[in-house]
Amino acid sequence: MTADDEAARDALAPGADAELLTDAGIDLEVAAAAAPDREIAVEVGDSIVEVKNLTVKFGGLLALDNVSFDIKRGEILGLIGPNGAGKTTCFNAMTGVYKPTSGDVLLEGKSIKGQKQHRITRLGLARTFQNIRLFGEMSALENVVVGLDARHRTSVPGALIRSPRHIREEKSAIERGMALLEFVGIADLANTASRQLPYGYQRRLEIARALATDPKVLCLDEPAAGFNPAEKEDLMDLIRTIRADGYTVLLIEHDMRLVMGVTDRIVVLEFGRKLADDVPTAIRNDPRVIAAYLGEPEDDVA
Ligand SMILES: Nc1ncnc2c1ncn2[C@@H]1O[C@H](COP(=O)(O)OP(=O)(O)O)[C@@H](O)[C@H]1O
Ligand SMILES: [Mg+2]
Repeated sequence: MTADDEAARDALAPGADAELLTDAGIDLEVAAAAAPDREIAVEVGDSIVEVKNLTVKFGGLLALDNVSFDIKRGEILGLIGPNGAGKTTCFNAMTGVYKPTSGDVLLEGKSIKGQKQHRITRLGLARTFQNIRLFGEMSALENVVVGLDARHRTSVPGALIRSPRHIREEKSAIERGMALLEFVGIADLANTASRQLPYGYQRRLEIARALATDPKVLCLDEPAAGFNPAEKEDLMDLIRTIRADGYTVLLIEHDMRLVMGVTDRIVVLEFGRKLADDVPTAIRNDPRVIAAYLGEPEDDVA
């Protein structure tokens, strides 16, 4: 077993028999490249993110009104609601795009409220955007390597003189980037400019780029928007795989049927307020949620 294999083994399952992992179909080399520092041998079930009384006002509009929920380590939490309910605003307030008007967001017990976006990414809360934001002229691989940079920063002098350390880091960044592209299923197009990728691949690339920051929590804002049903199903499979790999996922989705099959728990927003917070079967049968989705007047569903 090489040192890299050993590191991969320790990240996946400390002390486990490497042969057993290999027999189980786990490619230690890919695991080492994709996730050298992941700790998945953590207790599942405690709160990793706590959103507390989060409020965002845009002038007179209360886009998010005193919303509280938590995300448990290892779960896929759905955040759903009709258009304009405040889902994206909630993401933006959590990930530093907007400063919350009031309330708090805790990551592993520490407040991240009001911190800058890149700092929050570095602390472990990564996200994708409802409107794809890639560097169009850069290749798929370059877009992912940019994500890796957020965590594996080389000092400027090192970068200028291309010290052995820098070259080693670059090599491993490319290897990690390729492993992530493979993971999301687009490695074949690593050298294609991202704007030339089919739309669905751009969405996958965004996910790979977010994963490159080695997040503790991955927040996806309508990753299946604009997909046909088959593409949606494929994407849900990818999200299941991501969770199986030890990540915690917060998934915004407008299509209620789609989240039912993939989430462990669902938070429903309507008019900026939390309407419900329960397991999918309970959400599906909640008359308030059904009414919200049918677009009934608020008076009838309160
Ligand atoms: N930057 C902004 N400035 C003003 N109003 C905004 C801004 N962002 C969102 N809103 C408003 O906040 C409400 C919630 O929007 P949003 O969070 O995008 O909803 P969702 O993602 O659930 O569809 C909407 O009424 C929207 O028009
Ligand atoms: Mg939105």
